[in-house]
Amino acid sequence: MEVIIQETANSGCLLGAKIIAKKIREKPDAVLGLATGRTPEKLYRELVRMHREDGLDFSQVTTFNLDEYVGLPPENDQSYRYFMNEHLFRHVNIDLAKTHVPAGNVADLHAECRDYEKRIQDAGGIDIQLLGLGRNGHIGFNEPTGSLRSRTWIKILSEQTLNDNAAVFGDSESMPKHAVTMGIGTIMEARQILLLAFGPAKVRAVMEMIEGPLAAVCPGSALQEHPRSTIVLDEPSSAGLRFVDHYKWVDRNKLTWQRYD
Ligand code: F6R
Repeated sequence: MEVIIQETANSGCLLGAKIIAKKIREKPDAVLGLATGRTPEKLYRELVRMHREDGLDFSQVTTFNLDEYVGLPPENDQSYRYFMNEHLFRHVNIDLAKTHVPAGNVADLHAECRDYEKRIQDAGGIDIQLLGLGRNGHIGFNEPTGSLRSRTWIKILSEQTLNDNAAVFGDSESMPKHAVTMGIGTIMEARQILLLAFGPAKVRAVMEMIEGPLAAVCPGSALQEHPRSTIVLDEPSSAGLRFVDHYKWVDRNKLTWQRYD
């Protein structure tokens, strides 16, 4: 794992945007895996700025989002499709037909899950997958103790996740308790992983993900096995790590081609 500790969440998001923009410039028809949530909001804002001011071109880009709540139609303002339209898609020159978010409101969700996997395969696989990290260590909506080899499927959200997301959802009573999510096996097939985790609430999950054992109790720890994963943290989220000095040493001593800035 490449662990990069930035001073603030803001600088972490700017770095994350640079990493994604670099991929798009190298490969204009890149396939991006995307995440929702509070963590990447500023990253998307920066990508929009890069599009407007630096000409970052999304015209050939394809995207696959990690997850969607079951039961919410795309036009519901709490759906992840709505989130993506608002935070990124409608501000850049992306072809909406090339943006994929699992459908949470179709009659046959099992068929949707199988089809989502096929669409990823048909697109040639994901070049870079953006992830956030749940306070309980989840990635996508793969909650603790689920299989580390799972595929896109319907998952039950944990009580902690429901509580964490209730603040954003507003009305926690009507919050869906199920989601369609890429599985950990699906995520692990992405050629590159970029995970962002910021703030003191993520300290424990970050410790378990990076320095804990590879274990289903912390789904994020599966990334220890990924050949190319970059974890971007801020000072508060990295506070519990044992090897902070080492991560900073490595970062200072990178060769030019290993740097993103
Ligand atoms: C979002 C997702 C989740 C979030 C995680 C962190 O698509 O799959 O795993 O990344 O719950 O959420 P925030 O960023 O709101 O702390």
